[in-house]
Amino acid sequence: IIDKKNFKYIILGGGVAAGYAAMEFTRQGLQPGELAIISKEAVAPYERPALSKSYLFPNEPARLPSFHVCAGSGGERLLPKWYEEKGIELILGTEIVKANLASKTLISASGKIYAYQILIIATGSTAVKLTDFGVQGADAKNICYLREISDADKLVETIKTKQKGKAVVIGAGYIGLEVGAAMTINEFDVSMVYPEPWCMAGLFTPAIASFYEGYYANKGVKIIKGTVAVGFEADSNGQVKTVKLKNGEVLQADIVVVGVGGSPVTALFKGQVEEEKGGIKTDGFFRTSVQEVYAVGDVATFPMKLYSDMRRVEHVDHARKSAQQAVKAIKASEDGKSIQEYDYLPFFYSRFFDLSWVFYGDNVGEPVLFQDIQDNSTTRPSSTKPKFGTYWIHNGKVVGAFLEGGTAEENKGIANIAWLQPEAKEDLLEKIGMLIAGLY
Ligand code: FDA
Ligand code: NAD
Repeated sequence: IIDKKNFKYIILGGGVAAGYAAMEFTRQGLQPGELAIISKEAVAPYERPALSKSYLFPNEPARLPSFHVCAGSGGERLLPKWYEEKGIELILGTEIVKANLASKTLISASGKIYAYQILIIATGSTAVKLTDFGVQGADAKNICYLREISDADKLVETIKTKQKGKAVVIGAGYIGLEVGAAMTINEFDVSMVYPEPWCMAGLFTPAIASFYEGYYANKGVKIIKGTVAVGFEADSNGQVKTVKLKNGEVLQADIVVVGVGGSPVTALFKGQVEEEKGGIKTDGFFRTSVQEVYAVGDVATFPMKLYSDMRRVEHVDHARKSAQQAVKAIKASEDGKSIQEYDYLPFFYSRFFDLSWVFYGDNVGEPVLFQDIQDNSTTRPSSTKPKFGTYWIHNGKVVGAFLEGGTAEENKGIANIAWLQPEAKEDLLEKIGMLIAGLY
């Protein structure tokens, strides 16, 4: 007997994009039994950003169901019951191990077959592992990664068993900075190790990074730049004990947290669909090269209209919006209608300790630092209320804007600047200085 189930729509992956797509399907009109979400994770779609922030807090940590989608964007929180009421099948704890786009079927690890008419690929990213580069001893216990809720649970358990111990954080991108802060709040003695000359080198300028590095140092974090981990030693229980660095230094460690990047989960579709820049190539409606197959969120390489370029974005705002766009496009094409192409303004943000920054646009060209014209101490790491920003000027226009400590209105203001790309006139710096002083 063949174990096969048929659906009109299947979303493969049960992360952020899947949840927002489900919500959009119900807005556009969905019949019970039409939609299934298949996810390797054991829980309904949730706001992944919580995992490296409030999920790790020692006091009153966030736990499901409090951060199921669409809580992160102020929408209705989709509890498992909601899917049931809408007749959406949540097929959880189920890994798809084979996809056949020609026969429109997916096969699970246990051999179940799922057939669809329309597929939305929303498989997200996976954490790059140190074992992938063959780092010696990188399979020791208590070397943690953070991508899914099961990873976060494992990290929380390890934090509990190694209280007030030593933590080594490897990488200073998003995960490194956010988890480095969380480990410090958990009273670990934290060292951060990364190869670049400054943290978050893909986005921050040296001036922005120097503020955050100073802030972390003031919190007691030891920063070791310009080197990488080349090996780990474990104790007799197989638990990590030391981290050997390329510069010869050896660090003691009870926990190691690694955040050295993500990589889009596309292997199931290799050779079946066109790819570009490491992701699945789509148009402005998130249609792939295969009819009735869409790709959204981290895996999609889509036309970024604003910059006339094909881009892949690994951030939550795009995961939400691309999912909504794909569902709108699916429904419009069923009704013989058309919708506007995706026209996205990149938006990234992060929060750690008492800090909070936003970035909109493109970080190309010449960066210019701006600060509160009334109080220039706010750019110092020791400031009690830090507030400063940077904008990027490219071909005479402002194309990107960063702001630490902005109010909701100010953040909206710099988003508008990045969207409208005004000419970088001489008085702009002064105006933005006034903007963050609340006078503009
Ligand atoms: P997502 O990764 O959310 O979901 C993919 C899903 O597919 C997972 O449930 C996975 O198990 C499943 N899957 C994959 N392969 C499968 C298979 N073969 N079979 C079944 N299921 C499969 N962004 C931001 O802007 N601000 C922030 O603060 C943060 N914070 C943050 C923290 C942490 C810890 C992470 C890991 C990431 C962030 N991000 C972020 C990034 C953001 O969360 C990310 O861009 C979105 O979750 C992407 O949404 P997707 O739905 O594309 O993938
Ligand atoms: P990242 O790309 O932000 O940072 C990777 C960092 O790894 C680099 O900054 C570099 O310092 C470091 N690195 C690279 N090779 C190294 C090596 N061999 N040794 C030591 N360090 C090395 O990736 P991430 O921080 O791992 O995040 C993973 C994914 O999760 C990304 O898609 C990211 O966008 C997403 N995420 C986003 C947020 C947010 O937007 N606030 C928060 C957490 C995670």
